[in-house]
Amino acid sequence: MSAALLAYADEVSGCTRCRLAQGRTQVVFGAGSPSADLMFVGEAPGFHEDKQGIPFVGQAGKLLETLLAGIGLARQDVYIANTLKCRPPGNRDPQPDEVEACEPYLFRQIELIEPIVIATLGNFATKLLSGRPTGITRVHGQEQEAVLGGRKVLLYPLYHPAAALYTPAMLKVLESDFARLPELLGRELVPPSPPAPSFAEFAPAQPAVQLGLF
Ligand code: URA
Repeated sequence: MSAALLAYADEVSGCTRCRLAQGRTQVVFGAGSPSADLMFVGEAPGFHEDKQGIPFVGQAGKLLETLLAGIGLARQDVYIANTLKCRPPGNRDPQPDEVEACEPYLFRQIELIEPIVIATLGNFATKLLSGRPTGITRVHGQEQEAVLGGRKVLLYPLYHPAAALYTPAMLKVLESDFARLPELLGRELVPPSPPAPSFAEFAPAQPAVQLGLF
């Protein structure tokens, strides 16, 4: 972690901004490369994440790792965070006041990491970061520009891996949406290279014979 991100994680570790502070084992701040071009934002820590202090270490995390491997990336190459930093009891849905209390942490993380693409996993992260109420079923796989943490980023909503775990049709969609990530990262990173010169550009407009060269 960069020094600034590390210091910020330390600051957030004692958070008591909402009721979730009472039932948690620890704050699950986030993990991965502090200078990642690709950042994932999930929903909230579950049982295993709360115990280990690392996001996406359970079944959904295994699937996320498999999907990442499919595009040639590992956990350490990206940054993974959640909308909520503490586990809701019994893994219930985040409540609006909890999301509101926790969102400054996510925005500051984005500011410090400066990702190019933010892939939101599921409804909660997607609605928060897009600022729109449209659900994931309608917006998954559709990148949109957004200004977050004071910078332009490409927001890319994806189905939550936990939802795809037991729904093969959803997994197929998630896989094909995931396959576009390299293109989205490259689009922002490298300006498109000029097309290779075609033969016509080298060839004289008129055949050599007509030009009197032979
Ligand atoms: N689901 C999430 O949204 N986040 C985690 O960290 C684990 C499961």
